[in-house]
Amino acid sequence: MALLELRDLSRRFGSFEAVSHVSLAVEAGEFFTLLGPSGCGKTCLLRMIAGFDPPDGGQILLGGEDLADLPPERRPIHTVFQSYALFPHLTVAGNIAFPLRMAKVPAREIEVRVNAMLDEMRLAGLGAHYPHQLSGGQRQRVALGRALVHRPRLLLLDEALAALDLKLREDMQLELIKLQREIGITFIYVTHSQTEALALSHRIAVMNRGRIEQVDTPSRLYSFPANRFVADFIGNCNLLDARTLGMAAGALRLAVDGLGEVLAPPGAGASAPGQGQGVLALRPEQVRIAARGDALAADNRFPGTVREVLYTGDVTTYLVALDNGLRLAALLPNTDPGRSAVFQAGDSVTVGWSRQAGHYVPD
Ligand SMILES: Nc1ncnc2c1ncn2[C@@H]1O[C@H](COP(=O)(O)OP(=O)(O)OP(=O)(O)O)[C@@H](O)[C@H]1O
Ligand SMILES: [Mg+2]
Repeated sequence: MALLELRDLSRRFGSFEAVSHVSLAVEAGEFFTLLGPSGCGKTCLLRMIAGFDPPDGGQILLGGEDLADLPPERRPIHTVFQSYALFPHLTVAGNIAFPLRMAKVPAREIEVRVNAMLDEMRLAGLGAHYPHQLSGGQRQRVALGRALVHRPRLLLLDEALAALDLKLREDMQLELIKLQREIGITFIYVTHSQTEALALSHRIAVMNRGRIEQVDTPSRLYSFPANRFVADFIGNCNLLDARTLGMAAGALRLAVDGLGEVLAPPGAGASAPGQGQGVLALRPEQVRIAARGDALAADNRFPGTVREVLYTGDVTTYLVALDNGLRLAALLPNTDPGRSAVFQAGDSVTVGWSRQAGHYVPD
């Protein structure tokens, strides 16, 4: 049985549906992420799970039991919000001890458990400090310590790392993964950062306008997006409007608008041959690029001109205008030190990709 099950859950504000018929199951021990653009309903969904807001329809079950009549403080669930809201007048140890004091745990035991948590959160020696004396990452760890000291069955994290700068955020991401693995508590993590979701999660639910678009592992979401929205939202993607023409030698034949015929892997589109409309999602790292005239082994090959070059350190992205009018992004790793680009704007090139690359999704 799943630890948490949402059945047809909805939340309305007037005629507006912020969460719309969401059904999900989260397994015990899972690092599960809700990912979606601002305003898609992530916080609303978490607030219902935590018990702060009642659903307008549907059910929430924890370990098979309906939570409808259980107030937030009686649910074995803890929430960490973006502004981790530490008590400024309490020390680090006092903050972590707070939920245990509320639960009237004996003082002796509080001390033992708080000290263990300080060690676990790498805060040993900081127990007597006040929040204003801590760095952002340390404050984040205090908030996590306070959330975990009670050993909830489910921890909800709403944009918990959003306030941190990039480097600290990456450090905390690694720590969260480690922590979650070690303590084995189920996490539901909310973010609108797709890189963060891909890096942290066992599974991701992609939300859009109150609905779940797809639930899958990071690599399946990235490689096999269920629809145009997911393809566009997760990672960078070339989206080519296309029509299916049928099959040829195990490949799907597509007519791409403005480009002509392209071969793609037989995916969901193959079961619906004919004149279906859809989109070929092609990742920039799947597109190869060579100087015009140089050999380029690829099933799909088109001439073009480099228009823009975006150097980001580890890789460079080339925006190529194809002679038939389309624009494609191609990405190459930078393996030569001191060299930021292999091609320059204005270069005549050939771009190409294998018939195994890309993923066609019908509209
Ligand atoms: N109390 C409220 N009254 C009216 N509308 C609300 C209320 N709370 C949220 N909404 C609306 O519901 C939608 C979903 O809000 P929610 O806070 O869940 O978004 P979110 O996905 O968490 O976005 P963000 O990533 O920006 O935090 C939004 O359009 C928001 O304006
Ligand atoms: Mg939110």
